[in-house]
Amino acid sequence: MEYIVINGQKPLHGNVNISGAKNAAVAILPASIAAGDVCVIDNLPQIEDVSNMINAMRSMGVRCEFEDEHTLRVDARNMTGQVLEEKYARNMRASYYFMGAMLGKYGYAEVSRPGGCDLGARPIDYHLKGFTALGATCSQEHGVVKLTAEDGLKGANIYLDCPSVGATINIMMAAVFAEGTTLIENAAKEPHVVDAASFLNKIGAKIYGAGTANIRVKGVESLSGGDYTVLPDPIEAGTYMIAAAITNGDVTVENIIPKHMDSVTSKLKEMGCAITEGDDWIRVCGNNEGLRACEIKTAFYPGFPTDLQPQMTTLLCTAQGTSIVTENVFDARYRYVNEIRRLGAQLKIEGRVAVTKGSCTYTGAEVMATDLRAGAALVLAGLCAKGETVISEVGHLDRGYGRFEEKFRAIGADIKRIKKA
Ligand code: UD1
Repeated sequence: MEYIVINGQKPLHGNVNISGAKNAAVAILPASIAAGDVCVIDNLPQIEDVSNMINAMRSMGVRCEFEDEHTLRVDARNMTGQVLEEKYARNMRASYYFMGAMLGKYGYAEVSRPGGCDLGARPIDYHLKGFTALGATCSQEHGVVKLTAEDGLKGANIYLDCPSVGATINIMMAAVFAEGTTLIENAAKEPHVVDAASFLNKIGAKIYGAGTANIRVKGVESLSGGDYTVLPDPIEAGTYMIAAAITNGDVTVENIIPKHMDSVTSKLKEMGCAITEGDDWIRVCGNNEGLRACEIKTAFYPGFPTDLQPQMTTLLCTAQGTSIVTENVFDARYRYVNEIRRLGAQLKIEGRVAVTKGSCTYTGAEVMATDLRAGAALVLAGLCAKGETVISEVGHLDRGYGRFEEKFRAIGADIKRIKKA
């Protein structure tokens, strides 16, 4: 078993280069299948979800070869089948993108229901309703979703009950090949929705309005190959920004799009951090006087991202005064709270609301990562805790953060990974 061991209370100083966005990469890779040609995808993060995605693609006859550590050549010209086995689908949420990509391109997809972090109910009903509206037949047996569209898909107006990121991208991918025009209303506006649309447009799709609530897709007959660079990861960037704040450090996150960080920047400023930004970087300095409490409500983009809620709540526990956090996206995203309590956090949870007492001093203990962002929250608490923090189940972190300990060590953290029986 692997553990992360942190000796805390070391202020972080220096620059961190942010990798390509996990949630964009895991959409663009399956989308590249739809090209039926050769695509070269650059700025891929070195994370398990990307490796899992590549293994899934290889299992269906797609040739994937790294040109360098961040650049993958995907050759989907000789794909051998459209059936994704359970072992590939279950270990990541984004395996659902194979449904849209293969249904659109081949009129057929068989994909086991997706896995991913356990954040409460994570249905895929909007995805399936969207495919059905485009004319596909959807059925499910033994946990496997089967989608068919023998006569091809037809454009339709599809209204999403809530702006689901996954449903927006999945329906958009299927609609690329639908006859006529598809309108997705109440679409998600997240940066990775825009990135997936930009990639598809680069290889020949006609998608208009990505980044707004109304996405229009004009069907095309085929796509071609092409090159694409994945956008920087706002969640990784936000994690390092919060790390600077929680250790009273001075950290510059580089290779980012500062606009994507507005909700995080504005909350850290409200708490008393000094923040400066340039074209592709943000510098976050803590505050010797201590940070102030504030209120956070997670929301769809451009609101505060749910994927930074555990990290931010962990920081708010150390701020002066009572903070109120409302989790509006997932119904079970406070599973990490018992673990940060072991480190000294004082907070109450009432349904979707967390109320922090504030001014906690974390002290090291043995804790367990319950999911990806929960693991990041524990690392942040460990970085400012007195003494040693030992985190188990660190495989969750590897799914979404590349070179995690290495990047933290480079800015002054005392963090290492150990193996124990
Ligand atoms: C994606 C991200 C995840 C992020 C989340 C919200 C990926 C691979 N994962 O997850 O990191 O936390 O967006 O920003 O990009 N819903 C339904 N029915 C559906 C689909 C969603 O009820 O068919 C609900 C969900 O239960 C949730 C909300 O809609 O309450 C948002 O989910 P969604 O945006 O789809 O999240 P994911 O695609 O699972």
